[in-house]
Amino acid sequence: MKINGVVVRVPGKINLQLGVGPLDPNGYHEVTTVFQAISLFDDVKVKVGEAGSGIAITLSGSTAPGVPVDDSNLAHRAAQIMIERYDIGSDIEIHLKKEIPVAGGMAGGSADAAGVLVGIDALFDLGLSRDVMERIAAELGSDVPFSISGGIAIGRGRGDQITPVLSRGSYHWVLALSGHGLSTPAVYNECDRLREGLSISRPQISDLMMQSLRAGDSKAVGKSLSNDLQPAACSLRPALRLVLDVGLEYGALGGIVSGSGPTVAFLVEDEEKALDLTVALSASGVVAGVIRATGPTHGARVIETL
Ligand code: C5P
Repeated sequence: MKINGVVVRVPGKINLQLGVGPLDPNGYHEVTTVFQAISLFDDVKVKVGEAGSGIAITLSGSTAPGVPVDDSNLAHRAAQIMIERYDIGSDIEIHLKKEIPVAGGMAGGSADAAGVLVGIDALFDLGLSRDVMERIAAELGSDVPFSISGGIAIGRGRGDQITPVLSRGSYHWVLALSGHGLSTPAVYNECDRLREGLSISRPQISDLMMQSLRAGDSKAVGKSLSNDLQPAACSLRPALRLVLDVGLEYGALGGIVSGSGPTVAFLVEDEEKALDLTVALSASGVVAGVIRATGPTHGARVIETL
């Protein structure tokens, strides 16, 4: 049976640890990071478009307003790269149903690009291996390979070289959202500015974090959360310090700016604590929204064929 389209569900991510090394001559920083995919998803529908329509993107979902639909959208670039590389003679229609915050440090744009790669692979029966797909993903952006793999993984290099981590347990998160995003390059620049004159060593994975994940010990994971970009995100958005204080005061096991921010992720013990913290953060007036999620979850995968 010929498939007319597919829907790919792709998770957002939190960086449990993000170690940032010095700026390389290529304009990127060497990072060592631990990603966790969480249950906050974008659904990416990929269909064969009407002849002559090119790559056409439409949007829906709570975080869709303001997202571009032209070739500045990473999903557009993902479709372009697949069309060129695999001689796909069809036009492509993409619908992004967005729930992951935009410019929130949760890899929302990367998720959409990953969804397009996996969707085009399935729609045209290309049979690409995970390796090939992750290599194309890395050309699109540092976080795109992890959006494909999901689960919990270590990212090295620019964050694009992924190694899965075996872990136990399920983690409950409360996400404090900001009204306005932060630009990833701006946060990295601020990080360089704050560290000017200091000697920066190569980032390492924390043994304590690895042991805590293997043991499924959420209290220890909470204590091990760390992010070298957090001072930079807080410097650009001082209100984030207040958000972190409120979450920790109300009993979170740990709190962290996710990636380049400005989303702040709080780890809590269970669903009940997650509800309590949601109420406290909402009442505090220092956040634009609060979402609960659990992790780890799967990476980009086809959930429907049309
Ligand atoms: O790879 P991606 O396009 O997502 O990166 C966006 C920007 O973030 C880069 O242009 C760079 O300024 C910064 N970045 C970095 N080091 C990394 C990843 C991203 O400096 N490892």
